[in-house]
Order: sequence, then C-alpha cells, then structure tokens
Amino acid sequence: MNYFCPDLINHSTLVNDKLRNKFYKDAIDKSVKDKVVLDVGSGTGLLSFYALAAGAKFVYAVEIDPQRAAITQVLLQANFDKSRFRVLNIDFWDRDHQNKFEYKIDVFLSETISAAIFCQGAILSWYAFKEIASDEFISIPDTFSIDVYEWHGERLFNENNTSMRGQTGISEVVEENTLDPRIEKTLRAFDKHYRNINYSAARWENPEDLPEPDKIYENALVVNVNDKILSPNFSLNFDETSTRTLGHICKMSFGDQTTYFKDWLCDSKYVAIFNVKDCSSVRFAFKNHPYHPSDNCESAMGFATNEYQPWTVVTDK
Ligand SMILES: C[S@@+](CC[C@H](N)C(=O)[O-])C[C@H]1O[C@@H](n2cnc3c(N)ncnc32)[C@H](O)[C@@H]1O
Repeated sequence: MNYFCPDLINHSTLVNDKLRNKFYKDAIDKSVKDKVVLDVGSGTGLLSFYALAAGAKFVYAVEIDPQRAAITQVLLQANFDKSRFRVLNIDFWDRDHQNKFEYKIDVFLSETISAAIFCQGAILSWYAFKEIASDEFISIPDTFSIDVYEWHGERLFNENNTSMRGQTGISEVVEENTLDPRIEKTLRAFDKHYRNINYSAARWENPEDLPEPDKIYENALVVNVNDKILSPNFSLNFDETSTRTLGHICKMSFGDQTTYFKDWLCDSKYVAIFNVKDCSSVRFAFKNHPYHPSDNCESAMGFATNEYQPWTVVTDK
C-alpha cells in the first residue's frame, strides 16, 4: 500500500485544533465506556482514537475519502486490538450501507460541520444515523445553534471589505507538539509535509477580534438531534429599519458543554457576515447543500464570501 497522502495536510488544522478537540475528548471521555460508537467522517481517525482510548466497546469509523480511511485504519491498528473497531470507507448517506453495522449504535460521533454550520451535512448524518441507533442513543454534539451579532450600519465587512475572504488563518508553523505522539507518528508516516500548528500563532484573523456588537440575539437558531428539521431557517425582527451588519456566531453543544466555532483554529472559525439594508425583519434560510468531497465543496466550506454563501437572506422592508 502506498502510504503517502499529500491530502492529509488539509487536516492539519483539525488535528491541531485544541479547543475543537477538547470539546470532543471531554464529551467522549464521559460517554463512551463500554458503548458502541459510530464516528462519521473519521478523517485521520482522531475521534475514533479518543473513543477507543476511553474504553468504547466497539467503534465504527466511517470515512468517504479512501486516503483518510487508510490513515484511520493504520492509527487504530497501531494502538488498539482490531476486534474493537472497524474502518469503513463508504459514503455514510448511502442507505445501501446501513447493513454494514451489525451492532446498534449507542454513541453517534461526528464533526461534519463548517463555518456555515450545516454545510458538510451534519443534519443528513443525524437522519441516516437514527436508522441504526439503539433506543438510548446519544449524539456528540447533540445541538447546533447560532447567536447573531448586530452592528449598526455597514461599517463592518461591507461589500468592499475583503479582509475576511479566502483567509486560512495560518500564519506561522512552530515545532511545539500539541498532539498525542502516537497520533502524530501515524500522521507523519503518511504525509512528510504534516505540520504541527501552534494554536495561538494562527489567531491573527480570528473573529474574536471583531469589535463589540451593538446587540446580540442569543440562540436565534437552535437545532437539536431530536428535531425533524432538514433545512434550518430563522427570522429576526427589528424595532426600526436602519441598515445593519449581522454576523452568525455558530456553536455546538453536548449537554451543558458548549464550544464556539469562532474560538477554534480550523476554517470553521470564520464568522459569516451579512449586510441588510433598511429592513424591519430578516429571514435566514439554509440551502440544504449536500456536501460531498467530490463536488469540489471542500474549498468552499461556507465562509462569508461572495463566491459561496449557503444562507439565503430574505428581508422585509
Ligand atoms: C471536518 S472532517 C472531521 C475529521 C475528524 N473526525 C476530526 O474530527 O478530525 C469531516 C470528514 O468527514 C468526511 N465525510 C464527509 N461526508 C461524508 C460522508 N457522507 N460519509 C463519510 N465521510 C464523510 C470528510 O471526508 C472528512 O474527512
């Protein structure tokens, strides 16, 4: 097998993203002991590794990309008994694959999100997952939600401001290790360019640097694993019709544990910004874009760019 995987570099920001990984590891550590776990979109195998290390009875690691599935296989095989896991290189949304899961799933684990929160199909994965779930299943995360920040006027990120566009946020590469050395060993074997990225060095374009908003609409949208929603949408009503700038501050939760994407290192941290002119209400509707790596969507992860914006904005004058 050819282990070289130039594509792995795309996941460097993910596996080095301390806050993102901590959210999952904390949730996994308290939930998976002796449980059957499904990790949809296993990527390099990080979350499956956490689950097996935390005592999961059995882990299904599902990954659509063959090279990433191979990395998952090597990482898990090197560290855990092979009777405790199975790596499946399949498209999880393809219903023909449902018979590949002989155990009912107790814990559903997935990080198929993006800056626009639903771009990679997290909701589609929830729908497919429920067909093979045990009665008492849990999902990590169990809720996605959006706060909306409002600034008066269009002084922020108006159409002439390109500061947020196409940025990766990675300005510096440092040697400091942030990963479990066992994980890093496998990643380096696959990708000689694999980098360990320092979290703080990458924060120069962080949305936390946005000025204080004039108003915050907390939980303008909340979608829970138990809701039957395929295309999320939400509305805001305003007291007066002035022009304003609105930002989607996305987050996800597991129980009382919440993480804001804007605090992360990886691309999902970007905050989608909208200008709405002289309106009394605005409705955001998500075009339920079925993410698929082969559709060339990976380079369009839902940034607030003109090129790709999955949220449709409808205003009422
Ligand atoms: C954001 S990455 C997360 C990787 C890893 N779980 C982690 O947290 O580091 C999402 C992964 O989901 C995979 N993926 C997307 N859609 C999928 C599908 N329908 N079936 C299986 N894997 C999928 C992508 O190829 C990608 O590797």
